[in-house]
Amino acid sequence: MILVKTIEELGKLLKNYRSAGESIGFVPTMGALHPGHISLVSESRKNEGVTVCSIFVNPTQFNNPADFDKYPVTIEKDINVLEQAGCTVLFVPATAEMYPANDPVLHYDLGFIETILEGKYRPGHFQGVCRIVDKLLNAVKPDTLFLGRKDYQQCMVIHKMIGLQAHQTQLQVCDTVREADGLAMSSRNMRLNKEDRQTALHIIKILRSIQSNLKPGDLSPLKKVAFQHLEENGFKSDYVEIADAVTLEPVTTWDGKQPLVALAAAFLNEVRLIDNLVLTTGQNA
Ligand code: PAF
Repeated sequence: MILVKTIEELGKLLKNYRSAGESIGFVPTMGALHPGHISLVSESRKNEGVTVCSIFVNPTQFNNPADFDKYPVTIEKDINVLEQAGCTVLFVPATAEMYPANDPVLHYDLGFIETILEGKYRPGHFQGVCRIVDKLLNAVKPDTLFLGRKDYQQCMVIHKMIGLQAHQTQLQVCDTVREADGLAMSSRNMRLNKEDRQTALHIIKILRSIQSNLKPGDLSPLKKVAFQHLEENGFKSDYVEIADAVTLEPVTTWDGKQPLVALAAAFLNEVRLIDNLVLTTGQNA
């Protein structure tokens, strides 16, 4: 694995691979890697070519400075894990490399998708995500970008940004990787104490309960019960929502056909956890 720290170095290296006819797969991360990230590397490796990963804890996507300060950093371990996983090139830029002085701040016209759920509860978050991923795509110019479905709304936002900025990159969204007991893997799980790690399971529990109790008609009671369940178990919830799986518009009355996804975000003490479950793709309707 080759480790590079500057955009210039990265550009030169990838030009050689491209000239040799290699395709480029890209897995952007903020480090604190877990098997969910490694599954994205494995997906990229299926395409044979070159797999590029980046590790950069992006300050502009943290609307809460305390969350940024506490974001886990495990760089030595991450480098080893990526080497073992067969990553070809690791890009680890410094903050000044990605955000030089007087760096212009673009505004991405994301529309409705930025106004709801994560966009509503983390103002500015998706602008920060787009800003860094746009820069990374300009630097890597990958054929395929690999993202995990755990960040369902982020995948939609980045898909939109790829179109807005006319990047020549295909987005491949990969399944959420879960612990044996169902907890979605997340770098933030490292911050949970033993007790909260167990309590965290209530998130997937309510999503699965929504799925098994889903029937056409009014969905409000399902959402309400799920929200209350989290509150009763010590969470401070931002939202439990059932939304159209394609547009992310909240769905109140279900016709039995519309594709649906259930999404939740909640704090357990100071740790904010998110998860989602696609309830129905609408394909059997
Ligand atoms: O999902 C993440 O880890 C980050 O939002 C990303 C895509 C690496 C951008 O910083």
